[in-house]
Amino acid sequence: MVRFREVWESGVDELARVLVIHGPNLNLQGTRETKVYGEETLAEINRRLQTEGARLGLEVDCLQTNHEGEIIDAVHGAAARCAALVINPGAYTHYSYAIRDALAAVGLPAIEVHLSNIYTREDFRRVSVIAPACIGQITGLGSEGYLLALQAVERMLGRDKPSGQEVSG
Ligand code: DQA
Repeated sequence: MVRFREVWESGVDELARVLVIHGPNLNLQGTRETKVYGEETLAEINRRLQTEGARLGLEVDCLQTNHEGEIIDAVHGAAARCAALVINPGAYTHYSYAIRDALAAVGLPAIEVHLSNIYTREDFRRVSVIAPACIGQITGLGSEGYLLALQAVERMLGRDKPSGQEVSG
């Protein structure tokens, strides 16, 4: 959480960019397993993210990739440019120590988002190796989860600093 202190102390305006990373198979959103993931396309979700970002005064960049290394590069790149990350790592959630290490290495506040509720599905989905490197996780609320993550970022950036919240470091 050291990074939060830096963000709070260095002023919000120049750092109010948020990178949203959509991991593998999310490009198929709207057509794959619609009963589980819904019928919204990724383009529609990204449009809603842009709209919500504009409302909150956040600059939102969206990236989708099916490749683990590209997610890691994006996390590294975000360190210099972004105040926070929102990440749906797709199936990498359940086994990518490399993505977890990247998040831990950059120390940016990250929120993990899942469209489906990973705790009500197959056993292998009930474990997130990414969550310990994140400040929080939103799961099972469909695409609303991404919007809620943006709202949480906006509050935690200090414009609406939560009272009583510990800032270590
Ligand atoms: C997912 C859940 C993962 O288990 C799955 O592999 C995905 C999507 C979700 O958003 O619900 O690809 O991250």
